[in-house]
Amino acid sequence: MTNSKGLFITFEGADGCGKTTQIGLLNEYLKEKKYNTLTTLEPGGSDIGKNLRQILLHHDGYVSPRAEMFMYLADRAQHVDAVIKKAVEENKIVLCDRHIDSTVAYQGYARGGNIEQIDLLNNLATNEYKPNLTFVFDVDSEIAQKRVGETKDRLEAEGLEFHKKVRMGYLELAKKYPQRIKVINANLTIEEVFEQVKKIIDEIL
Ligand code: TMP
Repeated sequence: MTNSKGLFITFEGADGCGKTTQIGLLNEYLKEKKYNTLTTLEPGGSDIGKNLRQILLHHDGYVSPRAEMFMYLADRAQHVDAVIKKAVEENKIVLCDRHIDSTVAYQGYARGGNIEQIDLLNNLATNEYKPNLTFVFDVDSEIAQKRVGETKDRLEAEGLEFHKKVRMGYLELAKKYPQRIKVINANLTIEEVFEQVKKIIDEIL
């Protein structure tokens, strides 16, 4: 028998925080418990989004900060309408690698965009559809940068100061939305980080 529960869970953090590994572990854990899941990501979780991801991460040349923001938002609108909502309605647990909070942390706190405007644009992009739960994987910026390694995409290549602002942005968001956002200490081993995730998930299921 399968367990049935529609949930939308997002995973956030600066580059190199280890969230993608944790999504894989949680997906396995939920499948063992017979839940239907969908793992997806932003940018790139829809057909249109795949093209946008290529531009956003690998365009070789100038990208206007506003154009960058609107591409992330376009990716999100398509993703919510074509993929996420449907899956939740089918009683799947959607595990989404990045969502609204990435735009606030990266385009807002790190690039200096207006946070109130970004909130409004995020609401427009998602039609106010919100995650049930968000994990922020918080890791020391120097450690995160080392984890990213030598081959960096356009955003990863922004450097330490940029990523410190991203981290600070996430911590501000967690203070603002304590019900939805749970901060995970991601400086620890993969197993220790997953224990924290599992504890929160077990409380919800
Ligand atoms: P990732 O899939 O490796 O995490 O790469 C996505 C990159 O895009 C990452 O550096 C964060 C960045 N990003 C933003 O700047 N704004 C956004 O809204 C999203 C979803 C991602």
